[in-house]
Amino acid sequence: MPAATRLLPAEPAGIREAARLIRAGEPVAVPSETVYGLAADATNGEAVARIYAAKGRPSFNPLIVHVADLETAGRVARLGPAAERLAARFWPGPLTLVLPAQANSPVAALATAGLATVAVRMPAHPVLRAVIAAAGVPLAAPSANASGRISPTTAAHVLASLDGRVPLVLDGGGTGHGLESTIVAVEGDALRLLRPGPVAGDLLAETAGLPLRAAEAGVIAAPGQLASHYAPDAPVRLNAVERNTGEWLIGFGAVAGDDTLSAGGDLVEAAARLFAALHRADATGLPIAVAPVPESGLGLAINDRLQRAAAPR
Ligand code: TXA
Ligand code: MG
Repeated sequence: MPAATRLLPAEPAGIREAARLIRAGEPVAVPSETVYGLAADATNGEAVARIYAAKGRPSFNPLIVHVADLETAGRVARLGPAAERLAARFWPGPLTLVLPAQANSPVAALATAGLATVAVRMPAHPVLRAVIAAAGVPLAAPSANASGRISPTTAAHVLASLDGRVPLVLDGGGTGHGLESTIVAVEGDALRLLRPGPVAGDLLAETAGLPLRAAEAGVIAAPGQLASHYAPDAPVRLNAVERNTGEWLIGFGAVAGDDTLSAGGDLVEAAARLFAALHRADATGLPIAVAPVPESGLGLAINDRLQRAAAPR
């Protein structure tokens, strides 16, 4: 975790520095037209893990992937005709589309929390667009606040909760909307409004030519929190220091297994590898055992996900 946070104006030198840090796998706070985002390379699982470490979030929520053009959106997600109509009318802008993830998407599993869908947004803010273009990668970015704090609309708000936890805040002044993007899931025969925001639901339905369903309670804030989400089919045993007969052991640190989250006991690496390790384990068809992971820092979110995977169903 960086000791000092630099604040740079959102001018060409600052934008170049933000892009350099992002390519090096660091999260950087950047303005958008809604709220400030904490942006990292969406294609780099360890970079995405550092977003969670900086925010101190005790669980993994799927993140919005920010793109600068439609071609990149199409490499990340499958846009059908309805999504294309929404994109044509509201992008760039404060609308996030939840779509089926593209096969061979370059986005890291941690950014989508292992889901088969992905949230995509093409922002309008010139600074964020310039950072995406200079970094040359799609950016995963939640709001740039520490867990449990309100979303930041100025660089000072970002510093108030993330000073000393991120290397750089790009100061682009106050954000325009001050309200997070509208999130809508495009589900073939209907739209589902997951989070109301600057783009009104009835405009979405009219543009897409599909009915708008309200989200079920509880799905809006945190879809990643459902106990049943991305749980492997096989039973999962936690805090395993050795393999029982017939088990597939996912190791960590000194506990070597059939696979490991991180042989060196590094929590950033472990977070980045978590969903792939669970998928590999599940593909074996064997009961799964997982080594103990320390209950601190990113370990809190890793253990939260593991406990959900192990919950009886
Ligand atoms: O305006 C915004 O959207 C800001 C700026 C930075 O772009 N970002 C933002 O991100 O508000 P965040 O992480 O604070 O909120 C994203 C929401 C979360 O509630 C998350 O659960 C939901 O999007 N989400 C992401 N992927 C999803 C998916 N595949 N299915 C359903 N919900 C998803
Ligand atoms: Mg947020």
